[in-house]
Amino acid sequence: MDNQNNGSKSMSYIMNTKNWWGPLTFILIISLLGVGMIGYQTYIDAPPMAGFSDEKNNQIFDQKTIERGQEVFHKYALMEYGSFFGDGAQRGPDFTAEALHQISVGMSEYYFDEFKTIKGTKPDKFEIKQINEKVKQELKINRYNESTGLVVLSSAQVYAHQRVQQYYVDIFINNKGGAGSLPSNYIKTPEEVKDLSSFFFWGAWVCVAQRPGEIYSYTHNWPFDPTAGNSPTSPVILWSVLGLLAFVLMCGIVLYFIGQYNQLPNKFFKPATKDLFSADRVKNFSPTPTQKATFKFFFVAILLFFIQVSSGLITINDFVNWLGFFGIEINDSFPVTISRSWHLMLSLYWISTCWIASSIFILPILAKREIPGQLPLINTLFVLLFILVGRLTYRYGFRTTWINGRVVVLVRSSGMGICGFW
Ligand code: HEM
Repeated sequence: MDNQNNGSKSMSYIMNTKNWWGPLTFILIISLLGVGMIGYQTYIDAPPMAGFSDEKNNQIFDQKTIERGQEVFHKYALMEYGSFFGDGAQRGPDFTAEALHQISVGMSEYYFDEFKTIKGTKPDKFEIKQINEKVKQELKINRYNESTGLVVLSSAQVYAHQRVQQYYVDIFINNKGGAGSLPSNYIKTPEEVKDLSSFFFWGAWVCVAQRPGEIYSYTHNWPFDPTAGNSPTSPVILWSVLGLLAFVLMCGIVLYFIGQYNQLPNKFFKPATKDLFSADRVKNFSPTPTQKATFKFFFVAILLFFIQVSSGLITINDFVNWLGFFGIEINDSFPVTISRSWHLMLSLYWISTCWIASSIFILPILAKREIPGQLPLINTLFVLLFILVGRLTYRYGFRTTWINGRVVVLVRSSGMGICGFW
């Protein structure tokens, strides 16, 4: 009986709205510790962004090439189509996984041809297996030299790098299959595609080369690709199962607390003594000057919402081509990368615009009077909205490129652009 009382007492303590800070602080600390740990490890355990050379010390490409390739990736909003390290829209391929597969296939091809040249015959089944095993082993060896900042590649890997470049030139420039729903000539110059391919090549190396002192890669053998020797290790399987069980357990705990609300006496939730907003109060409500000043914010938000939802409808077109039913072909002039970027960015824009305008709107209601000096500040904020949005979206978000002779503005989903919004 005592135990039951103690239990319900501690439950009452958590459920009492006066003690809101307790669970909140607990969740805040756990979350901050988690985010802090992830942030710390991201920097400490980051793979090197190295240059690559062949065995004779000739540079294949340097670190700057990888950075330029990354820029190309952002410039053409490829994360709104495929993904890199598994992060992106996942409408197209994961470019790291694709490049890794192309590399292992290319290396096998290299050794296959070498075998034929030396022996004068094709390798038999057993010898093909040997070649495939050799490729896996070679891919796993990490030949990064910290003092030179270079990764040394075998001749087969150098060949595979060229092959990966050609693979992406074929896709993005020569329109030879694989570009999915992206328009033809999506990327303008072969140089850009070559930089992009080196960026993908580096990503693939990170996914397969063993982390120093470990028996798995920098990405813990992600992605799964048996031809490259990437398969999950026992800890990956163990932690995946434990993670899933922990998730189910946490859901149970949350549902338990929600269930407790129904069991509790209603002592913590006192019903309101008067209506917050009755029909009469709404009818007789006349907005103050500062409240009226927020109308233009809402007007902008409505416009942004309209464009955002339209972008969503165009994004759907990439999946089911519903506009094609009406004979409208839009994908070439409005690729999914653009519509999807707008769909995401504009939602953040109209939501923050509404959020700020609503805060201004309820201020006189909370203060029960019009606070002096606010009106010019609100109008200044509105002007700033235009200046800042224009400047920041130009600086961080927009890239202009020609696709099929038309000017298309590519919007990059950039956290910085959005943070700087207000
Ligand atoms: C008629 C209205 C809408 C349509 C037709 C629409 C359509 C779409 C489509 C096609 C996608 C891509 C789904 C995928 O790739 O798996 C998407 C994703 C998304 N939409 Fe909408 N949407 C609409 C309204 C909204 C609204 C009002 C918001 C936000 C306030 C919103 C936020 C999002 C977000 C956050 C994503 C995820 C994007 C991503 O994963 O990259 N959508 N929407």
